[in-house]
Amino acid sequence: MAKRSGKGRRNPPGRKVNENLRLGSREVWTRNADSGKSVYGETRRDFSGEEWRRWSANRSKICAGLLCARENPDGLIPNSGDDILYLGAGHGTTISHLHDVICGPENIHSGRIVGVDIAPRCLRDLTFLAKSRKGIIPVLGDARKYAEWQIYVPNKVNWIFQDVAQSAQVDIFLGACQKFLNHGGTALLSLKAASERWTKEGEKALFDSVGEKIANSGLEIVEAVDISRYEENHVLFHCVKKAHS
Ligand SMILES: C[S@@+](CC[C@H](N)C(=O)[O-])C[C@H]1O[C@@H](n2cnc3c(N)ncnc32)[C@H](O)[C@@H]1O
Repeated sequence: MAKRSGKGRRNPPGRKVNENLRLGSREVWTRNADSGKSVYGETRRDFSGEEWRRWSANRSKICAGLLCARENPDGLIPNSGDDILYLGAGHGTTISHLHDVICGPENIHSGRIVGVDIAPRCLRDLTFLAKSRKGIIPVLGDARKYAEWQIYVPNKVNWIFQDVAQSAQVDIFLGACQKFLNHGGTALLSLKAASERWTKEGEKALFDSVGEKIANSGLEIVEAVDISRYEENHVLFHCVKKAHS
């Protein structure tokens, strides 16, 4: 996608969430840590001599969450310099924007993004991305089998996101939070009704019962964000690990 001019604007549209992210009512922008390149065909624009990328909510549940959350959308985003764990990394679409925020060019903020995916094809793309975006650690592994990849997560992290879209994903998520998340850290779970077995109970019953399971596990639910405007049948659970659980 060709770079376009910001039409005289000093900043991308929306309000500043942090130095590297702007959130509007319909669009989200991150400051490009790898200037001159798009990752998945997204729009790039110059604002005051700096290049920003438009984050597509149709391609990222975190971006959809930012646009749909009512309670503290800013809390969905990790801080610059954070260590994070991302289960179900895919081809790196969302990870590239998180990298803009956490790491910046040449990883100037010393962030660390461990991205785990079971599919070799995804890992190929993620490895390619990591070459020009320092701070991304691509890991080929099964999110359910920590022993295979926990060596890449030597310390607890402040932020976990899971987007593995398969059965038993709630248990995988809760196990990962128990093992790898700092107290006070943020945990996000993307849940699609159809990936779970008990869909006959109805979508609402499913999401309610998942919410109860999460709440009983030492995580506090900030919001179950309905992102179905961008991803059919999806809810993004925004949680925080309680101080002592
Ligand atoms: C919906 S896609 C992820 C998209 C990605 N989060 C993004 O926003 O760009 C789900 C991913 O989960 C991966 N996956 C499915 N089961 C997994 C498992 N058990 N462990 C790790 N990754 C898994 C798939 O290979 C796929 O890439």
